[in-house]
Amino acid sequence: MKMFLSDNVSGVHKNVLEELSKVNVEHVNPYSDDMYSKEVKDKFCKLFNKDVDVYFTTTGTSANVIGISGMINSYEGVICSEDTHINVDECGAFEKFLGAKILYFETQDGKFDINKAKRFLEYKGSKHKIQPKAVAFSQPTETGTVYSIEEIKAICDFAHSNDLLVHMDGARISNAIAHLNVSLEDMVTKTGVDVLSFGGTKNGMMMGEAIIILNDEVKKDFLFKMKQAMQLVSKGRFIAAQFRAYLTNNLWVQNAKRANEMALLLYENLLEFDDIRDVSKPDANILFAKIPKAWNDKLIRDYPYYIVNEETNEVRFVTSFDTTENDINDFVSKIGKIIDLNHSFKKNIVYN
Ligand SMILES: Cc1ncc(COP(=O)(O)O)c(C=O)c1O
Repeated sequence: MKMFLSDNVSGVHKNVLEELSKVNVEHVNPYSDDMYSKEVKDKFCKLFNKDVDVYFTTTGTSANVIGISGMINSYEGVICSEDTHINVDECGAFEKFLGAKILYFETQDGKFDINKAKRFLEYKGSKHKIQPKAVAFSQPTETGTVYSIEEIKAICDFAHSNDLLVHMDGARISNAIAHLNVSLEDMVTKTGVDVLSFGGTKNGMMMGEAIIILNDEVKKDFLFKMKQAMQLVSKGRFIAAQFRAYLTNNLWVQNAKRANEMALLLYENLLEFDDIRDVSKPDANILFAKIPKAWNDKLIRDYPYYIVNEETNEVRFVTSFDTTENDINDFVSKIGKIIDLNHSFKKNIVYN
């Protein structure tokens, strides 16, 4: 079975599995004090063209919450859009572990809106108010859109000129990099991001995310925060091994490119059906469409997807590094059968 529920339904890339076996020899120092972890840190430093600190975690939620813990005190807050993962999809982990406040604003498209964020600046200095200390956004966003370099730079400039730090949730940053065809240095270092959650699990790793710290102040004492937050993994070499394979020969970008291409292929094909409405053109590997409710039973049985809005039957499709052209073709022909149309699969598309 293949699924469009999310990209963490996918398997593990074979290079990552092989690498796990390769490091499964002899004894090495624990807690990321081993040569593989150091090698991965060096690889990241090259990719960001900066001396970054790197800490491994096992989930995207822990990467976000612990990463932000390096930036704020419990009397401080993080400004973000209401759809941001830390606000709506992490079961209050931020609030429980940091005891701080999320200052969110409403948006139409889930993106960070500088004008809306500005209203929280009034809190600064008031002894009765939570003190804004950072801004946070996801790249790509939860709705699958990708911020341009200019948009990120504008957010960082807004933040820094108001004495705020910047956290970027990059659970799917590889998909954004593949879409924009830029380097991590351009997207993250040069724009001025202070802390990044760099995802691996959704794009071919087994389980592993990295907290990348670019800001020297945040680097201080972060090791102790990791340990206290229960994510200083003792057998860290096995997360390092996954990143070792993932960052070799551009695997992380190749995998993301593949997932993005499959999303675009699905998009092009869904456009062919008159009964399917409001198909969103994917920047990365997530797209939305309104499909007839009556189709759900037949389609979800073979290719599970997520229903975002029960009323309009707006659904979300997420493609993965291991989604194939055959999967898309098969799914599209299933739609064709439902409406009794001999639908021909459209595959000669130009990928971005
Ligand atoms: C944008 C974003 N950030 C963070 C996460 C959290 O990842 P995890 O489920 O591993 O905690 C997800 C997972 O779906 C996500 O989509």
